[in-house]
Amino acid sequence: MSLETTPEETASMPVIPRDKIIVALDCSEQRALDLAQQLKGRASWLKVGMTLYYAAGPRIVQTLKEQGFKVFVDLKLHDIPHQARGAAQSVVAAGADMLTVHGSGGLPMLQAAQEGADEAFAQFAPTHESSAASVGEPLREKPITLAVTVLTSLDEATLQQVGVTRTLEQQVAALAQLAQKAGLTGVVASPREAETLRTLLGSKAAIVCPGVRPSGSAQGDQSRVSAPQEALRAGASYLVIGRPITDAPDPAAALEAIVAELS
Ligand code: C5P
Repeated sequence: MSLETTPEETASMPVIPRDKIIVALDCSEQRALDLAQQLKGRASWLKVGMTLYYAAGPRIVQTLKEQGFKVFVDLKLHDIPHQARGAAQSVVAAGADMLTVHGSGGLPMLQAAQEGADEAFAQFAPTHESSAASVGEPLREKPITLAVTVLTSLDEATLQQVGVTRTLEQQVAALAQLAQKAGLTGVVASPREAETLRTLLGSKAAIVCPGVRPSGSAQGDQSRVSAPQEALRAGASYLVIGRPITDAPDPAAALEAIVAELS
């Protein structure tokens, strides 16, 4: 029997609130390591974005995984298919459990990135060595591949400047469907788009929502925010929460308060 869980199965599994929260570490390597220490045993997922990855390199992924975290490597890949395939391979080989590509890169790029992720998982994922029943089976789950549809920092006027004549909602829907066609697990989207996307993509797709603000926290530079419960009710599979946790005087307590709010 295969022990492997497909990303689709993982995305549709009932998970406890703690496992739905992804803490974004948009900071220096030292600060990220301090935060990981404080969140160890409490947070299930950490997100390594461009700021941290470009400063610390792929080793930060393994360092965080050795501390028991699942790691979302959010590099929003966008290049020719050959490069996207290679980059997805590198990111999965580094240990990513979740990764992002830009939906606007087009179908061949999305397909190449998915193939790269699959190839690296088959080649580099550690496998069981001791239990006779499962020798050779992967120890970790297949990585969740996500397409960024339209960045939450863009509005319709900005989209028109770069030649997009569809409405923002139409563009989000079109890119989400393209990602699904390419075989990706799901999308990154604003919580305000989650309900429409859940209907469009079905129950198995992963919908990962940033722009989440628990009650009482500052909005920061996010323009369209939702409360954690609202986002989950709308159909989000995972919530990405950064500064409300990482900038709190006690990040572990801030995370626990959100988990309690969701429970
Ligand atoms: O600190 P905050 O909770 O605003 O962090 C949100 C995280 O989600 C950041 O790491 C940001 O890069 C990411 N993100 C976002 N909007 C998107 C895609 C990703 O805020 N559309």
